[in-house]
Amino acid sequence: MVFKFGVTIVALAALCCVFYALRDDLQAQVFNNQCGEDTHEVLRLTFHDAIGFSKSGKFKGDGADGSMILFDSIETAFANNAGIDDSVDALKPFLKTHKVSAGDLIQFAGAVGVSNCPGAPRLQFLAGRPNATVAASDGTVPAPEDSVDKILARMADAGFTPAELIHLLASHTVARSDHIDRTIQHVPFDTTPFTFDTQIFLEVLLKGNSVPGTSGNVGEALSPLWKEGEMRLQSYFALARDKRTACEWQAMVGNQKLMQKNFRTAMAKMAITGQDRRRLYDCSEAIPQPKSFIKKSASFPAGTNAKDLQQACASPFPTLATDAGKPTRIPACPDGSLDITTCL
Ligand SMILES: *[C@@H]1O[C@H](CO)[C@@H](O)[C@H](O)[C@H]1NC(C)=O
Repeated sequence: MVFKFGVTIVALAALCCVFYALRDDLQAQVFNNQCGEDTHEVLRLTFHDAIGFSKSGKFKGDGADGSMILFDSIETAFANNAGIDDSVDALKPFLKTHKVSAGDLIQFAGAVGVSNCPGAPRLQFLAGRPNATVAASDGTVPAPEDSVDKILARMADAGFTPAELIHLLASHTVARSDHIDRTIQHVPFDTTPFTFDTQIFLEVLLKGNSVPGTSGNVGEALSPLWKEGEMRLQSYFALARDKRTACEWQAMVGNQKLMQKNFRTAMAKMAITGQDRRRLYDCSEAIPQPKSFIKKSASFPAGTNAKDLQQACASPFPTLATDAGKPTRIPACPDGSLDITTCL
């Protein structure tokens, strides 16, 4: 018994070996061990690949199957995948140098990348996805201009509840926009785009006044921190205020532990969308421990306060401090620099 158990462990460790080497190469060659642009984009790719799945059969696709890379000439051309080619191009060469499937590569890279973001949970990683054999259909990725009804219906068809959608959206705590407003790039969605904190859930609940760039962009809503260069997606605005999702949204404001747990659980499910769980094996051991995090709660960015809240959930709102001093300067780089040319 003991011997057999030992053999199993050795065999599993051997199967996971390839991911240690892949991890080190991704960190050195793509992420630079940072929660920067490449990490953001690969995390986005994990979702755009996995959501290519439909329980009803309305859309083709086997979920987290790597089809975004294997059928890149088809899928990266879909409107809602604008910009995804950067992450596809970054990862694709690793299929030649490491013996992994495209679906494993994408989900593994996302889990490694997000570990570079202070405050992120350590994600599970299961290995063994077969390579995609078909491209996903166009239309599986929700758009920022979609109604809440439409987004929830699409997510349900892919196997996700409204709560799980909000939990997955925690990823937007480390995200920036390049394509909603074509006149500006690397536009953050919260004041801390390099930290996996709960600010996004607070800031989206503040009353918006204007936009950081040009007005009239499809899928963009008014932002409270437009002067600081923060953008808000129309879908966030709506989901944060819809009665089906508002309480899930609010619950994560200032609750780092809950956000980490929610995100970890939802990502574990998302990462194996459309896959046969029984054929996968656990190589989470190859995922680095995330960088530690200092700030424990959320706070109103300087110049905003509780009067700006558009609370849509009946539960009491947490009591939060307001940042002192001048309006928040949103860093352009993971090291806190305000000059983006130093990190691109
Ligand atoms: C998946 O496809 C890629 C690209 O063709 C190939 O390099 C890789 O060996 C395949 N992996 C598996 C597990 O089939």
